[in-house]
Amino acid sequence: MSTRPAIGQPISRLEGHMKVTGAAKYAGEYNVPGLLYGYVINSTITKGKIISFNTEAAKALPGVIEIFTHENRPSLAWFDLSYADMDAPPGSPFRPLYNAEVSSNGQPIGLVVAETFELARYAATLMEIQYEEESFRVDLKENLAEAHTPSIGMATMLKPPPPKPKGDFEEAFANSYAQVSAEYFHGTEHHNPMELFATTTIYEGDGKLTIYDKTQGTINSQLYVGNIFGLHFKDVRVISPYVGGAFGSGLRPQYQLFLSVMAALELKRPVRVTLDRSQMFTFGHRPQTVQYTRFGTDEYGKIIAMNHKAIGETSKNEDYTENVVNWANMLYASKNTLMQYELVDLDVFSPLDMRAPGGSTGSHAIESTMDELSYKLKIDPMQLRLINYSEKDDSLGRPYSSKELRQCYLQGAERFGWAERNPEPRSMRRGNKLIGYGMATGIWEANHLPARAEAIIDSEGKLQVSSAVTDIGTGMMTIMAQIAADELGLPVEDVAISYGDSKMPFAPIQGGSFTTSTIGSAIKAAGKALRKKLFKKAKDMDSSIFSSMDIEDVAFRDGKISVKDSPALSVSFKEIVAANKGKAIKTINFSVPKFFKLKKYSRAAHSAVFVEVEVDEQLGVINVTRAVTAVAAGRIINPKTARSQILGGMVWSVSKALREETITDYRLGKYMNQNLGEYHIPVHADIHDMDVIFVEEKDENVNELGTKGVGEIGLVGMPPAIANAVYHATGKRINQFPIHFDSLL
Ligand code: MOS
Repeated sequence: MSTRPAIGQPISRLEGHMKVTGAAKYAGEYNVPGLLYGYVINSTITKGKIISFNTEAAKALPGVIEIFTHENRPSLAWFDLSYADMDAPPGSPFRPLYNAEVSSNGQPIGLVVAETFELARYAATLMEIQYEEESFRVDLKENLAEAHTPSIGMATMLKPPPPKPKGDFEEAFANSYAQVSAEYFHGTEHHNPMELFATTTIYEGDGKLTIYDKTQGTINSQLYVGNIFGLHFKDVRVISPYVGGAFGSGLRPQYQLFLSVMAALELKRPVRVTLDRSQMFTFGHRPQTVQYTRFGTDEYGKIIAMNHKAIGETSKNEDYTENVVNWANMLYASKNTLMQYELVDLDVFSPLDMRAPGGSTGSHAIESTMDELSYKLKIDPMQLRLINYSEKDDSLGRPYSSKELRQCYLQGAERFGWAERNPEPRSMRRGNKLIGYGMATGIWEANHLPARAEAIIDSEGKLQVSSAVTDIGTGMMTIMAQIAADELGLPVEDVAISYGDSKMPFAPIQGGSFTTSTIGSAIKAAGKALRKKLFKKAKDMDSSIFSSMDIEDVAFRDGKISVKDSPALSVSFKEIVAANKGKAIKTINFSVPKFFKLKKYSRAAHSAVFVEVEVDEQLGVINVTRAVTAVAAGRIINPKTARSQILGGMVWSVSKALREETITDYRLGKYMNQNLGEYHIPVHADIHDMDVIFVEEKDENVNELGTKGVGEIGLVGMPPAIANAVYHATGKRINQFPIHFDSLL
């Protein structure tokens, strides 16, 4: 029997068993003799200066080794030179322990290093710190008058500025038949992966560092450490083999990495720094964002004017931007458009990409505005979207590399039973519960970055593939094995994947829904080169059956090279390696996206989401009882892991629309619910019937694999679909997430 293609099979995650049994080690679980533990001291003021530290009592404790502050930190390369971070926005990055200035509440201002974690944490409580406080601003809504246009920088390659205005928006809007103007607010959120941020730095005798870091980019962390501490990159090895979730929080090197490396270099000992849950709220967050929409249509529901404006928060030191307003005209055609994006600098830590950054925020406003329009026009919400369906990317006038959104609408609606919806709000009931049906559209960009991969056929005839890429829990390792297996015609069991180590071939940060396309393309490039090498070696064998053949005449299947037309004529990989004096056959290859060709297309995954909610009329309690997400994301490598990605996004959508929010005390400038008891996320009882459809979508332009990525799209369309369902159930439109029960009463 021939090995069947691995791509398309619902294979369980190869590391799944290790993760659920605790065998997979996280960055904070590597133990070495003499390990020291660091505990971070965070500022309790929001803005001002540190006047003094009294460290006496803390230092007097037996077992406390050192207390680092800005007063005794080593001088470092980065304080004069460069900075490297693949997700850094324009501006100047945060520098831990740089000076006495405090610029955000919870900013790390010291590190206690002790023989145990508990001792370090206790010692930190004995520190006396004098501050001089200054006035600050942390409330976006109070400071909208200060909004400015963001600077353009490196990170904007993946975050384009808003498209240019088209036509005359104001005039077209004024003359439109149906109009909706609305304002939306989206509060702060924190990533809160299960695994806490941690770094264990092993100081090797020869001045080299081995660093176990929680990160979404081993090479990103390696470059950061090399640049800042003035070390040769070869002397810095960053390993991140298993990651317990990240959602964007690991796209930038975090301050525990800096502090752990600094302490290890100074003390010449291994040092681990682990953040606790409350400290997970002290770096990076999804920014507060205010949005305004004005959409106008003709009498048939065709949009003629569209304005989407977003004002997000950033820090004083960096212009963190998101793509919030570029989506509306990608989805819906309109001759007159005005898309605007601005920032307000606040006294907060720089915001940070959080799953579907910008897209999940923008779609809230766009899709709820569309919903409101549908009621004004008395057109079914899905029908309104089909009326305005844009075959091409109308914002740039480019074709899509592929777009099967229409099928998402149709198949999703069918599976959900959308046709049974009574269009009238408050018209559907089940006992004392109001029932609402809502829908919305999702869109997310399909990117692809350069990467390398190594592929080896070993003496057993098996395949080994490696890349520095991480697996933050998406199933990356499994997908890599599937793609590699098909390249060489081997069963997945005969493929060994290594990853998550900066010593391995180059990979960018894992995120942006671009990792399958990026690493998959690198594996394809390596697979192709390895096939050529194997074939050449097979031809060079004594009395080779292939001596007069070309690579086109043979097939790679079942661990053998065989003649296409007569499969019985074959040579196994094992025999080829044996003939190569037992030396493994290897190749390392680079894959670069065809940027020139890609510029001709807009590339995006799409989804249609249908949601049923039940709202208790007396209590306002909202329950998402059913949801269907139909996704068109190109080729699906693994339907099981892909479905899990979408389901994860759907669970998060319930969270986003109904549960989670970081609550700020604007007088103190402080986040008040820095724990999972008060930072509400859904529990099992909140999650009911959820279904995922992958619509068939062939894409020969996007990349060689035809993949668009599924990591983020699951979180884009469903939050507004929930808000729209709540409106349908109750007749109340709440344009602020999360929707609180009391706002319905
Ligand atoms: Mo994602 S926000 O690119 O980890």
